[in-house]
Amino acid sequence: MAVCVKDIVPKRKGLFITFEGSEGSGKSTQIKLVRRYLEKKGARVLFLREPGGTKISEKIRRILLDVGSAGMGDECETLLYMAARAQLVKETIAPALKKGMIVLCDRFLDSTLAYQGYGSGVSIEWIKKIGGFATRGICPDLTFFFDIDAQEGLKRIQRAKDRIEQRALAYHERVRQGYLKLARREPARIKVIQGSKDKDEIHWIVRKHMDGLLGL
Ligand code: TMP
Repeated sequence: MAVCVKDIVPKRKGLFITFEGSEGSGKSTQIKLVRRYLEKKGARVLFLREPGGTKISEKIRRILLDVGSAGMGDECETLLYMAARAQLVKETIAPALKKGMIVLCDRFLDSTLAYQGYGSGVSIEWIKKIGGFATRGICPDLTFFFDIDAQEGLKRIQRAKDRIEQRALAYHERVRQGYLKLARREPARIKVIQGSKDKDEIHWIVRKHMDGLLGL
């Protein structure tokens, strides 16, 4: 079953671009650079993050990442990520795309497939099914996956690790392999970028893909 159910999505004018990556992959730095690049070009850009981006979704984010939420079951965790996403789609993503905006989102449904699916073993088919409901069938036009060796990525985190980051190296390795599997299945949408490369070199590669999509 395909992750995206584009055929049920009403026609929309905007563009939806997502950024995915394992911990410490340099994803956030690249999003900032792309945002600045597009704003300089005069594009109407909306930047969002997952889980989060709305008042309700940010509250759910706090529960999900809090180390005090130890003992949360995989089912509860998966549904909370989906709940945060559903609110963000309804409140922000769907209306912005309808208005013709470029929406950049730090993580989306692929994160749930990689972390809860391939990482924790939650059924992939089930995540796709409930994902279609939460996202209203909205699928990214383009996704960047910043790939980095799991151990190297975790070493890059200087601050206190959150509940997900604290998980064992083997978990993060499964997440990475999951992302690579998703990218192999959808090469037209998911572009794998080597996160170990120099930041400017990565930005250049990202820009080339963006320019292609935007016709710049
Ligand atoms: P961030 O650190 O990129 O802001 O993402 C928050 C954490 O939540 C990160 O460790 C990845 C994790 N995550 C999931 O496990 N499943 C999801 O569906 C999403 C969106 C994030």
